[in-house]
Amino acid sequence: MKKELATALNTYLANMGVMYIKLHNLHWNVVGSDFKQVHEYLETLYDAMAGVLDEVAELLKMQGEQPLASLKDYLAAASIQELPSAELRSREVLRIVQADLTLLRDQAQQIRADAAADDVYAVVSMMEDHLAQYNKTLWFVEAMQK
Ligand SMILES: [Fe+2]
Repeated sequence: MKKELATALNTYLANMGVMYIKLHNLHWNVVGSDFKQVHEYLETLYDAMAGVLDEVAELLKMQGEQPLASLKDYLAAASIQELPSAELRSREVLRIVQADLTLLRDQAQQIRADAAADDVYAVVSMMEDHLAQYNKTLWFVEAMQK
């Protein structure tokens, strides 16, 4: 695996590490008449995020690369921004989740293209799975805001 691809995967991993905590923040702090629905949906998202985070880190290890593995490293490498620990209206919560998942989807799409150019098929196949999942989740999150 080329160094650029490993770095891109580590940035993606860092974003998922930040997003895992951020989804908990939103799950705890969402308010509004649709609280229960959004609160419970966010739980399914952070549970899924834990799975893909582990998948990407283990893929890096299998390829002989070192995955970032500390919160300090994640915050330094991530492009997803953390939120303050404070209540947020459900509409704003869904807008934030949509923006961050779009960023992750775009990143996965770029990694997929770079991995295909380098013939790293394990990465191509994993990113294709992630892209299918982001597209489904984005459909849900967009529909919840209509
Ligand atoms: Fe919970």
